[in-house]
Order: sequence, then structure tokens, then C-alpha cells
Amino acid sequence: MTTDLKSKINMDKLPKHIAIIMDGNGRWAKQHGKPRVFGHRNGVKAVRETTEAAAELGVENITLYAFSTENWNRPRFEVNALMSLLVETIRSEVATLNKNNIRLKAIGDLKKLPAKSYKALMEGIENTKNNTRMNLILALNYSAKWEIMEAIKSLADKIENKQLFAADIDEKTFESELSTKGIPDPELMIRTSGENRISNFLLWQIAYAELYFTPILWPEFRKEHLYQAIIDFQNRERRFGMTSEQLVK
Ligand code: IPE
Ligand code: IPE
Ligand code: MG
Repeated sequence: MTTDLKSKINMDKLPKHIAIIMDGNGRWAKQHGKPRVFGHRNGVKAVRETTEAAAELGVENITLYAFSTENWNRPRFEVNALMSLLVETIRSEVATLNKNNIRLKAIGDLKKLPAKSYKALMEGIENTKNNTRMNLILALNYSAKWEIMEAIKSLADKIENKQLFAADIDEKTFESELSTKGIPDPELMIRTSGENRISNFLLWQIAYAELYFTPILWPEFRKEHLYQAIIDFQNRERRFGMTSEQLVK
């Protein structure tokens, strides 16, 4: 089954960047009569599988939405469990990341993470910084509105300090202030668990992304689900405002 799907992927038309909203851990745990944290723990396997599948295919960047600025509003016990899981997972996965030549990166308001989580994250980033096959970007304490506000403040500062003229601001200037600077926009965004919303993720960067929603709950997401999403993506016509006729040259 897995190999079948994989062989249907056009390797010349791979997205360079896939963004994933990993959702449904809580519902998956509930289905199993377990507390929500059990779902988060089981979500780690899906992260591993997805990362490995993307790297094997040759996708250059994947961004995983792991914790939003809004997620602080969850019960304290759950927030703490997620933060500990982050530390544990990074520490235990670094060796595999290095073995697979994968570089860990992170976007979001990272300084506001608990000190232990921040430290583990920085160590993971430092210890994998020379890897070149794929970037694994974790969105942590991230929200797109936060990111856009930060970019605006930074540009305003530069204007105030006469380093920049307002008239010179263009898309490129703006993008150079975003936390995704230097990384191409995701062509494909996947959300699991059947919710059809973006939840404050990469709003600027997904202006022209193909959106793929699947009912699969995150802890059940496996390589074949990623393959399915990529095949679906490859069968779409990306027109970028043009007509269908213009695209067939
Ligand atoms: C996604 O699963 C994980 C995080 C947001 C951290 P959820 O915890 O949101 O699971 P559901 O949506 O409640 O099922
Ligand atoms: C989005 O999931 C955030 C992450 C996956 C980290 P949520 O479960 O928090 O999203 P909403 O609140 O249901 O939209
Ligand atoms: Mg959710």
C-alpha cells in the first residue's frame, strides 16, 4: 500500500515546503478512553514518520505547528505536559536527526517558552545546524498575527532610526522581517482532524498555498497519508491568477 502510493508521486514536482497543522490529539485520546496527554504522546510517532517520509522524498522544508500562542489558554496541566514532551522529544530525536542529516529550526516567540524547553530547543538547533538534507521547522508559541506584528514593529523601528524609507517597503522587505525569512513559502498546507481552518498559522506565507484537509487524527497520521496529500497536491492546477489555457504551453 505504502510503496504503491509512493510510486505515484512525481519526484520532479515535489513541494519544496510543506506546512502541517497537527490536530486531533485530544480527540484521538478520548476515542481510546485516555487523557488528552496520551494523545500528545502518541503524536510524536506521527511527527517521526512524517519527518522521515518528507526527508526520504526530498522535500526541503517541513514546518510543524506544535504550539500556538492561543494554546497557553489550555489547562495548565496540559500546557506543562506539552512543554515537557517537547524537551523529551528533542533530546531523544537529535541523534536520529543527525543520522538523517535533518536540521532543526524553530519559529515563534521562543524566548517566552519555559526555560527548560527553550534550552532543549536551542541545543537541538545548535546540534543539527550543519545538516543539509531538510529543515524541520517547529512552530512553537507561534501565531501568524504575532509574527506580522513583530515584522511591522521592526520596520517601524528602522524607519524611526532612518535606516529605511517607508516608500521602499515592498513584499521582499516585509518578508525579510518574518521568522520564515530565507525559507520558501509552503506550496502545500495540511491540516489533520477534519477541522477546516488555519488557526493563525503562516497567514502571509500561505497566500497561494494549496490547502489539504484530512479527517485523520494526528496520532494516526503515517507516511502514506503524507504521500496521499502530495499526490492530491500534484493533481491540482495552480493557476496563480492566470487562465488554464495560459498554463498549457
Ligand atoms: C493538536 O491536538 C495538538 C496541539 C494543539 C498542541 P489537540 O490537542 O488540539 O487535539 P484536539 O483538537 O483537542 O482533538
Ligand atoms: C492549532 O490547533 C494549533 C496547533 C496544532 C499547534 P488547535 O487545536 O489549537 O486549533 P483550534 O483552536 O481548534 O482552531
Ligand atoms: Mg485541536
